Amino acid sequence: MNKIIVRGGNPLVGEVKISGAKNSALKIMAASILTSEPVVIGNVPYIRDVSVMSEVLGELGLSVERTNGSVTLQAKGPIGMEAPYQLVSQMRASIIVLGPLLARLGRARVAMPGGCNIGLRKIDLHIRGLEMLGAKIDVGQASIEARADVLVGANIPLDFPSVGATENIMMAACLARGTTVLDNAAREPEIVDLADCLNQMGACISGAGTSTMIIEGVDRLHGVSFNIIPDRIEAGTFLVAGAITGGDLTVTSVKPEQMGMVLKKLEQIGYKVDVGDSTVNIKGAGGPCGINISTLPHPGFPTDMQASFMSLLSLAEGTSIITENIFENRFSFVQELNHLGGRVNIERHHAVVIGKRTFGAGTVKAPDLRAGAALVVAGLAAGGLVEISDIHHIERGYENFTGRLQVLGADIELAPDERPLELAVKEEEGYDIPDISAGL
Ligand code: EPZ
Repeated sequence: MNKIIVRGGNPLVGEVKISGAKNSALKIMAASILTSEPVVIGNVPYIRDVSVMSEVLGELGLSVERTNGSVTLQAKGPIGMEAPYQLVSQMRASIIVLGPLLARLGRARVAMPGGCNIGLRKIDLHIRGLEMLGAKIDVGQASIEARADVLVGANIPLDFPSVGATENIMMAACLARGTTVLDNAAREPEIVDLADCLNQMGACISGAGTSTMIIEGVDRLHGVSFNIIPDRIEAGTFLVAGAITGGDLTVTSVKPEQMGMVLKKLEQIGYKVDVGDSTVNIKGAGGPCGINISTLPHPGFPTDMQASFMSLLSLAEGTSIITENIFENRFSFVQELNHLGGRVNIERHHAVVIGKRTFGAGTVKAPDLRAGAALVVAGLAAGGLVEISDIHHIERGYENFTGRLQVLGADIELAPDERPLELAVKEEEGYDIPDISAGL
């Protein structure tokens, strides 16, 4: 296992090309189950979640081939129906194979994805939507068993605009008989990307990106060659890194129109943001000021940017309040940030961020993907050496994060994590590690 060592103080200057969107790639890979023809996906990032999804689909019997920035998948058959626990437990997003398996095979067994550090991550909306299409679903302790002799289009209102539920239902409805109207659908750009890809495979989906989607079922889908959208969260993370270091940083190969709220908030804090057709530049500001942020479904402020903005606002003038409305436990990294010098108090789903702090040296652990990136962002502005362990979380969603930050001028490196592996694994699994130093 590795850790990240970062010595803050260097302004980040220069350009960084943004990778393809993790949260689009994973779903479009799963969509390849819906056809027996080859699906070629371009602009796929080299991240651990893509490797895990490749393993899940390989386990189901698909051929998966990674060449350069593309992944070619083919569900020629026979296809298995089971996504096993040892893979689903590594990545909750594996639940996204449920809808496609039901549509293609009429049955599926997916291990229960379980919660994670940021919340319960329930799947009741997925289940209810698929049942409304005619599936019979048993949700057991260990796995979800689903069967559907035939899927029939239905009017499906979502209690919450769940991204995953919208995607699972949309993919199942593509091959259902008749019309499905999905109300209160999620509107994220990754939803639009998936719908665009499915339509290029022969589906008939309208309204993607709005709250009401209409899916006309078709008999079959064919192969496709499709490039996914850039990762708006990775782009936002690099922009915050440029801001917090007082740098002059440009992200390239992005879609600024998908980052509206994040760019608006950076300007509200006081940064100069220049938007091009496929680039965004940010320049440091004298005396950034605190603001209030509430995370909301798209086009509201994205919950995946909450942690990095908390690091940034810890250094701004004044007090900021961050309200997390999407996940019930997404403040888990506050303790780590306070250990570096932050002063954040939690009041239910509000984080009160005291500004004008300075980050200093410290050793912290990445609790999850986005919080891990936020700790790196804080380290880039720290007055001392910051060590971040459990960085496998970060590697799930950021391609070559340290290498790209080095190119921008950061004093950052990967180093072997000397902690005995069994201790690291036990800590990871939540064992209480006796404090042996106390006994010495
Ligand atoms: C997707 O998760 C993303 N993951 C998340 O990104 C992102 O934070 C989230 O959407 C919100 O934008 C992927 O796309 C792989 P949800 P998802 O279903 O689909 C509740 C990252 O760091 N809910 O919109 O799981 C749920 O508990 C990750 O890249 C139900 O109650 O998000 C949560 O509180 C983190 N019942 C809220 O809705 C359900 O059936 C949002 O969940 C489904 C969800």
